[in-house]
Amino acid sequence: MNNKKVLISGVNSGIGYATALIFAKEGFSIFGIDLNEEVNPTLSKKVASLNSSINYSKLDVSDYQQVGEYFEKLNLEIDVLVNNAGILGPRVKTADYPKDAFDTILDVNVKGVFHMTKLALPHLKKDAKSSIVNVASVAGLVGMANHIAYSASKHAVVGMTKTLAIEYAKIGIRVNAVCPGFTETNMLENAQLEIEYREGLKYATPMKRFGVAEEIASAIYYLASENASFITGHCLTIDGGLTAQ
Ligand SMILES: NC(=O)c1ccc[n+]([C@@H]2O[C@H](COP(=O)([O-])OP(=O)(O)OC[C@H]3O[C@@H](n4cnc5c(N)ncnc54)[C@H](O)[C@@H]3O)[C@@H](O)[C@H]2O)c1
Repeated sequence: MNNKKVLISGVNSGIGYATALIFAKEGFSIFGIDLNEEVNPTLSKKVASLNSSINYSKLDVSDYQQVGEYFEKLNLEIDVLVNNAGILGPRVKTADYPKDAFDTILDVNVKGVFHMTKLALPHLKKDAKSSIVNVASVAGLVGMANHIAYSASKHAVVGMTKTLAIEYAKIGIRVNAVCPGFTETNMLENAQLEIEYREGLKYATPMKRFGVAEEIASAIYYLASENASFITGHCLTIDGGLTAQ
């Protein structure tokens, strides 16, 4: 164990799950939060088999009071914060887009990142080696038709990443984001895309496939690691070439 600690939101599934495993492999202790009562048992077993541990709490990042109570109890310093929790919402053109869904997506994807970051900052080590990695999306770089709220939310995450990077560079906290393209996780699965539409998304990606969670997790780990010691305010696109066209 290297005694370092990473806090990951949305740890029970997909990119958060894969991120927990890569940090565990590198000797970090994992602090994980998600909406479920319990930690994903498979994750917990895998983390233990890597000689690490996971300290799990049920927490809704959109609830400022809950996040505040979590950090009040967290009586220690962390090295890395990964703001990964996020939701996609319905696929509907803007005129028909439900207002409630718009509010919910911004509550989780934007305010969730703000709540977690604002309240984690006093707990981040001030040793010039700590960092924050936000999980944005290619939808934070280019438009995403039929996903007005998701696109707005991920553009906001990119904006918050750059602002935080400038604010905290002087005290040595680096802040970066990853911008994944389509990635095989529950989020994509739950979107219940028609087969033709799904194949169309693959076809639109120059590498002709979706990414996998581990490919995003390794970029998150890289941005948090010493290998990225002069990188801050960057949004790393991981999309099989989708936005290079
Ligand atoms: N899968 C993709 O194609 C893709 C592409 C670009 C960006 N992303 C982003 O990656 C991140 C992770 O998504 P994923 O693909 O692994 O999806 P996922 O659905 O597998 O995992 C998301 C996790 O976040 C948790 N979560 C949701 N709302 C929460 C809340 N209010 N508080 C705490 N936890 C909450 C969920 O319970 C879930 O465990 C998200 O921010 C998503 O927007 C995903």
